[in-house]
Amino acid sequence: MSRSAHPAGPRHADVLPEGHYSAPPADLNVLDPKVWSQTVGRNADGVAHVGGLDVAALAEEFGTPAYFLDESDFRARCRAWAEAFGKDADVFYAGKAFLSRAVVRWLHEEGLNLDVCSGIELATALSAGMPAERIAFHGNNKSEEEIRRAVEVGVGRIVLDSFQEIVRVAHIAQSLGKRQRVQIRVTVGVEAHTHEFIATAHEDQKFGIALAGGQAAEAVRRALKLDGLELIGIHSHIGSQIFDMAGFEVSARRVVQLLADVRDEHGVELPEIDLGGGLGIAYTSDDDPREPHEIAKALNEIVTRECEAAGLRTPRISVEPGRAIVGPSAFTLYEVGTIKPLEGLRTYVSVDGGMSDNIRTALYDAEYSVALVSRTSDAEPMLVRVVGKHCESGDIVVRDAFLPADLAPGDLIAVPATGAYCRSMASNYNHALRPPVVAVRDGEARVIVRRETEEDLLRLDVG
Ligand code: LLP
Repeated sequence: MSRSAHPAGPRHADVLPEGHYSAPPADLNVLDPKVWSQTVGRNADGVAHVGGLDVAALAEEFGTPAYFLDESDFRARCRAWAEAFGKDADVFYAGKAFLSRAVVRWLHEEGLNLDVCSGIELATALSAGMPAERIAFHGNNKSEEEIRRAVEVGVGRIVLDSFQEIVRVAHIAQSLGKRQRVQIRVTVGVEAHTHEFIATAHEDQKFGIALAGGQAAEAVRRALKLDGLELIGIHSHIGSQIFDMAGFEVSARRVVQLLADVRDEHGVELPEIDLGGGLGIAYTSDDDPREPHEIAKALNEIVTRECEAAGLRTPRISVEPGRAIVGPSAFTLYEVGTIKPLEGLRTYVSVDGGMSDNIRTALYDAEYSVALVSRTSDAEPMLVRVVGKHCESGDIVVRDAFLPADLAPGDLIAVPATGAYCRSMASNYNHALRPPVVAVRDGEARVIVRRETEEDLLRLDVG
């Protein structure tokens, strides 16, 4: 855990419960640029703004809860990744983090590629004009229909995830008179999360084909024999929210070893490797993520060194960041409803959304920050738990944080770094209407995914 359990400073209660919180920040009104997108700040009147627009006005116009996506911030991150990796590498944005047609257009304009993992993600990408050759198609259980469509439109690569799929994709490609570019996803026996990585038996999972026991080598053997496939490389993805490059180092070393084995056995040097996504972002001020240029430098060095040692030409590298691009670019805006102080414990602050718009806290025990954004306050910090309005006690948005003690119903609070895996994992639990995504840039706001309506939900109910 990145936060200590030793609070200090003034609070609403003398005895504080255990929790993953540090001391309250010196000034609750400060919006730490580490966790907020680049254009977020406060006006002279204390109201926060994003993309040149006041959040109170945004709430008025678009309602709450709503996700606000800072387009300039998103584009700047795309550029930072593209520049860091340069012309000899490819950056694939992982669409599972958040995908919409506007986002696809931004990616296209900024020169990024796209990783999709379902037929509908593929359809979204194509409908927004992403060239098929810049799309990678992933998934551990792609349907025949999904594969057929991907091959027909000519996706740049299909990442093969099983022995069955090697044959399936080859047959479909052949039946369409095509040769499909593919990578084989391998499990390298490394699992990395946040500050740690474990190099043990993480072959015990649904993705990929294990390097262990020669399985990946066998997959290569089979793929090289099939006319419908052009095997371009090896893919490895080791986890999520990773800060420590050591896991990538082990992964790269093992993938390069496979390339060397393939060369020795088949006389073929596979030209590409993909090291996946998983790079961490700051959800709280305690997190210290790496910059894209540091990541690119580290990965390039590792791969170059390992290839030199194995006497291989350095393959073209690709990466698939999702969270690191879109995560920090958005925040969720909520209106405060019921406030319930529990003496000696904490104050429960209920908002008009919850686990239906952010399941990550309930699902992964994820940590988030929160701030009062409709005004500033000089009141003392109070320890809060921000909860939603769902019929479940685990419906927590921010487990432990501080907000000013004069917080009142009707105030607007915002949770930063909700661009990734929040709208894309949103649900209709309790028939919640999934919130809109509003893009903001240079004083203009535009709905890019609209709010669901009662009609939308009732239309599905055809019984
Ligand atoms: N490439 C592959 C093959 C992946 O499986 C993933 C994520 C990514 C790239 C992008 O990873 P990112 O850079 O966004 O961490 N729902 C979880 C994360 C699941 C990630 C699944 N795969 C969460 O909310 O933390």
